Amino acid sequence: MDNLVVAEKPSALNLGDFRGENYIGAFAYLNQESIIYSSVVGRYTSIGHKVMIGATEHPANWLSTHPFTYAKQSAFSPCPEYDLICTDEDFPPNDRITFIGNDVWIGYGVYIRRGVTIGDGAVIGAGAVVTKDVEPYTIVGGTPAKLIRPRFDADIVARMQKLQWWNYILDKRRLPGIQYADLSASLGQLEEAVSNGKLEIFAPEKIAFKRKGHNLVVQQFK
Ligand SMILES: CC(C)(COP(=O)(O)OP(=O)(O)OC[C@H]1O[C@@H](n2cnc3c(N)ncnc32)[C@H](O)[C@@H]1OP(=O)(O)O)[C@@H](O)C(=O)NCCC(=O)NCCS
Repeated sequence: MDNLVVAEKPSALNLGDFRGENYIGAFAYLNQESIIYSSVVGRYTSIGHKVMIGATEHPANWLSTHPFTYAKQSAFSPCPEYDLICTDEDFPPNDRITFIGNDVWIGYGVYIRRGVTIGDGAVIGAGAVVTKDVEPYTIVGGTPAKLIRPRFDADIVARMQKLQWWNYILDKRRLPGIQYADLSASLGQLEEAVSNGKLEIFAPEKIAFKRKGHNLVVQQFK
């Protein structure tokens, strides 16, 4: 499979690595030794060091877990000894995509299992192993990851989910004096700006990155 990343501009992805086909939203970034496999990552998502998202699975209930039972392409191809034994079987769990929402914060050393969906605004605590979907605007942690607490009261979460602020250009000149530390005031200010049509829709340019070895080669993408 080709290793391809389509990324909205700007996004800061050069410190990490990618496998399979990925789509990364604007202002998302990832830190050293992080690897993303076959995922869709939302805008403004922060990914810490040593994070692994959507790694491929091996069949634990087949005769062997080794790729020769289900993968023509592997670390051994093209090698005649491998060619002789590998099969045409598919291992369906590896067809799944992993979805990471917008404004998600993923801490140091997190593992997110392939096929999981992380809701918008979620926080994944350092060292978590995420095996199940994570609700929007919740903080989870541990192995396996469990709810630590919701980020906000339910009414604020509902307003955040309706607003989806990442779909607008948060132009400071159109948001005078905005203070994001003041949740209630800044949320109200954004809601008002959106309903009055003061903020433009954010429709960033996209770039395609093709991974060759460990270098990401940047190409313009229409
Ligand atoms: C999860 C996190 C965001 C804290 O959330 P919080 O709601 O402020 O957590 P609190 O400190 O109030 O702790 C609440 C509970 O969660 C537990 N907890 C905190 N972080 C945890 C983690 N990473 N994993 C498991 N449990 C955790 C606390 O021990 C506490 O448990 P208790 O109620 O039994 O005492 C933070 O601990 C964390 O993991 N940050 C990531 C930092 C990081 O990785 N930075 C580098 C990358 S940018």
